[in-house]
Amino acid sequence: MEKGTVDMHGRAETIHRPLAPAGKPARRAMPVHVAIIMDGNGRWAQQRGLPRTEGHRAGVRALKTTVKAAARMGIRYLTVYAFSTENWHRPRLEVGALMSLLVETLERETPELRAEGVRIHGIGNVEGLPRPVRERLAWAEAETAGQTRLVLNLALNYGGRDELVRAVNRWRQAEGAEGRPLTEAVLARYLDTAGQPDPDLLIRASGEERLSNFLLWQLAYTEIYVTGTLWPDFGDADLERAVDAYMRRERRFGGIG
Ligand code: IPE
Ligand code: IPE
Ligand code: MG
Repeated sequence: MEKGTVDMHGRAETIHRPLAPAGKPARRAMPVHVAIIMDGNGRWAQQRGLPRTEGHRAGVRALKTTVKAAARMGIRYLTVYAFSTENWHRPRLEVGALMSLLVETLERETPELRAEGVRIHGIGNVEGLPRPVRERLAWAEAETAGQTRLVLNLALNYGGRDELVRAVNRWRQAEGAEGRPLTEAVLARYLDTAGQPDPDLLIRASGEERLSNFLLWQLAYTEIYVTGTLWPDFGDADLERAVDAYMRRERRFGGIG
């Protein structure tokens, strides 16, 4: 009997289903798109008696390591949550330090990222960012526009709900008046990630088990991997472990496998 057929009693027949050889579990392909919630910078600093901003600096170093590792591993899209629409609720000094760090990092790292074949793309409500950040981001995007090895989506002033509202409003302006109904495929074209595949794997550092308003549409069927590692301590080995765990998972998309 073939897999998926039913015997004379109406029971699913599984006896002749081919089994994976012992000790060699089936592996799926590498993830094409990995999303990361880079969390735990503050706790990392606190554990060392340092100001939270030092945690953010260490977080930038971890990001640089991770981008390089992702490119080496053949990941094609990396989307990192760097500043959420809710992060404005933090003390003014911390928000200011984060904005300065963004400007400084974009300025310093863009040439090397370009040399590594990385294309930088901002997602989120970019218009709501301070002008120096907006300008450096636009510059980094233009500088790296020709690169094709890895797309690095930097989520800045990003919120999943905000993105959906902006997408619907853009659609309404562009074609809503023509009276065509909005479909999933059409809406996807107005998201900040238009033209990109949805993330295969979401990694959250620091052990928190929530989405915190990240990529609400795109994560519909993404595999989730939570690690207790605080983001500044995240390195090549952590990325490899997450990818390895992903490759052992079975994705069913509502089917039966
Ligand atoms: C993530 O680290 C970085 C940003 C949100 C900008 P946190 O600053 O949230 O670190 P914890 O969660 O307080 O440890
Ligand atoms: C999510 O982390 C946002 C970023 C990593 C940029 P938060 O630290 O802001 O999330 P919550 O507040 O713990 O949910
Ligand atoms: Mg946090």
